[in-house]
Amino acid sequence: MNREANIFLNCLLGLALILTLGMSAALEAADAEQGRLLYRENCAQCHGLEGSGKGINAPHLEVAPRNHTDYEEMNARTNEELFKAISEGGQAVNKSVLMPNWGHTLSEEDINNLIAFLRKLCCEQ
Ligand code: HEC
Repeated sequence: MNREANIFLNCLLGLALILTLGMSAALEAADAEQGRLLYRENCAQCHGLEGSGKGINAPHLEVAPRNHTDYEEMNARTNEELFKAISEGGQAVNKSVLMPNWGHTLSEEDINNLIAFLRKLCCEQ
């Protein structure tokens, strides 16, 4: 291969790399962002818009909703445990029935996006 062709190919490879990295970063950001929107719609009434567990509905519940910004508590849960709690409800993880199950309302992708958002809330600040 001649020198010009080589330089040209290297440029193409570099460009492809930049595009791939850029896209995967955007995808990760979009997931947690999607989770944030789902949280506002479905979870904030109990857990609060900021995830502090002080939603508008919280004073009426016998068991306080989890504070999702609590690093200690949230860091002690695996993603699988969070998935189970969200999908099957509080009872499935020996918690209160006041935490509803969302497996029939939200898709697996939705729940994973929610978990990405929960991880941001608790553990990435
Ligand atoms: C009707 C009120 C209510 C709504 C709506 C609600 N939750 Fe909860 N949630 C609770 C309560 C109450 C608890 C605490 C249960 C306990 O500690 O026994 C809880 C606990 C949790 C837990 C913690 C389980 C653990 O391991 O400590 C997660 C995760 C969670 N909720 C996620 C969500 C998500 C995500 C949504 C929205 C899709 C949501 N919740 C909507 C009331 C609610």
